[in-house]
Amino acid sequence: ARPGALEVMQDAAVIPVIVLQDTAHAVPLARALLAGGIRMLEVTLRTPVALACIEAIAKEVPEAVIGAGTVRSAADAQAAAMAGARFAVSPGYTPAVGKACHDLGIALLPGVATGSEIMMAQEDGYTALKFFPAMQAGGVAMLKAWHGPFNDVRFCPTGGVTLANAPELLALPNVACVGGSWLTPADAMERQDWPRITRMAAEAVALKRRA
Ligand code: 3PG
Repeated sequence: ARPGALEVMQDAAVIPVIVLQDTAHAVPLARALLAGGIRMLEVTLRTPVALACIEAIAKEVPEAVIGAGTVRSAADAQAAAMAGARFAVSPGYTPAVGKACHDLGIALLPGVATGSEIMMAQEDGYTALKFFPAMQAGGVAMLKAWHGPFNDVRFCPTGGVTLANAPELLALPNVACVGGSWLTPADAMERQDWPRITRMAAEAVALKRRA
């Protein structure tokens, strides 16, 4: 079954934002994150191997729920879904991306950074949104301000989030989870230090949240 956007956000406190440079890393990385308690995985469409990595994880790690990040067009969404992605994350929102994901039957966490973008996403039925780039665009103060007019929206702040600042975000009533690349640092991936990634995943899973 394909999860809805809110289910993706409510599964673990953190959605790892993953940049893979090597197809051979995809499956061991997915297993390392799963071992730490994280199964919603966002593999960004930023490298030539991204789609092959999504395909490998979809095929070989069925306990993971693989998603595609950096979805910027209907064509990206289509390619991700064909590769086996069960959800999509976008850095911004366009009705074309919204419609593509809807038609493909995959969940979308659209990125928003302004009230107008929230309203556009809401018009198309999206109420579980990624706040991007969260810390650069106003962080905790912005989320508190949005809770007034947009109190039916749940956010996944992403961008500049760390283990240190995640708790204050997760304590907000409109934050369901956070996203971040800190669980999968380039050096750990290069060295294939999977135990370190499992430890960081477990640390992230232990973060408390309110919403
Ligand atoms: C991204 O799209 O790169 C994500 O927002 C991750 O941001 P981070 O590297 O600041 O966690």
